[in-house]
Amino acid sequence: MRQPLIAGNWKMNGTRSSAESLIQGVLEGSSGIAKAEIAVCVPFVFLELAQRLLSGRSIRLGAQNVCTEASGAYTGETSAEMLNEFGCRYVICGHSERREYYGETDAIVAKKLAMVASTGMTPILCVGETLEQREQGFMEAVIAGQIDAIIEANGIESFGQVAIAYEPVWAIGTGKTATPEQAQEVHAFIRRRVAAHDAAIAEKVRILYGGSMKPSNAAELLAMPDIDGGLIGGASLVAEDFLAICQAGE
Ligand code: G3P
Repeated sequence: MRQPLIAGNWKMNGTRSSAESLIQGVLEGSSGIAKAEIAVCVPFVFLELAQRLLSGRSIRLGAQNVCTEASGAYTGETSAEMLNEFGCRYVICGHSERREYYGETDAIVAKKLAMVASTGMTPILCVGETLEQREQGFMEAVIAGQIDAIIEANGIESFGQVAIAYEPVWAIGTGKTATPEQAQEVHAFIRRRVAAHDAAIAEKVRILYGGSMKPSNAAELLAMPDIDGGLIGGASLVAEDFLAICQAGE
């Protein structure tokens, strides 16, 4: 049985004050949530604050990006070791916004995954297709390519320490959520793609859904057999909404 993971991706939002209030709100409301593992992936500048607030608590800390290199002359970058030192347990890698806006290729994403895993943290590998790719019938080819690239670069054994997030690009921030059936179809496809290399790893790997998951649709999505949690954007910025999604998996 895979424990559900509900991870909030705050993206580039918040102030020091709002970050503190949001984390306090999630902490205060999470005591009744036993089944789901909860994580908050915060902007780098809030890591120290979050580490202090989350110290000794069951809510995990995560980051939204990492450098492909271990250390050195990479201005503006943040290393996996630094994130690990600040108590991160998860790091989002290859989010579609980074692939689109910052040219992150599958090769770059593979290097980031390896960096994160090398410190003992768990990468959250983001995959997903655009509306155009889906409408043209390329959804499986696109996602297979994203999965296969990581397996080719890092080996199937690396998936033993990875969570995967299926984020249909057309559902991110749009309010247009994939139906539970659409999401389940892709999650099952992803699990089969991994199983073709290692059935045990495929059974163990958690596959999260991301793309306009809200309190109103979380329960039906999380009820699907191959949906093992969510990667939550907008709704993670409101404690009550994020907690309602975490509760939906109970
Ligand atoms: O990483 C999660 C994010 O891309 C989903 O965003 O706002 O559609 O929940 P949102």
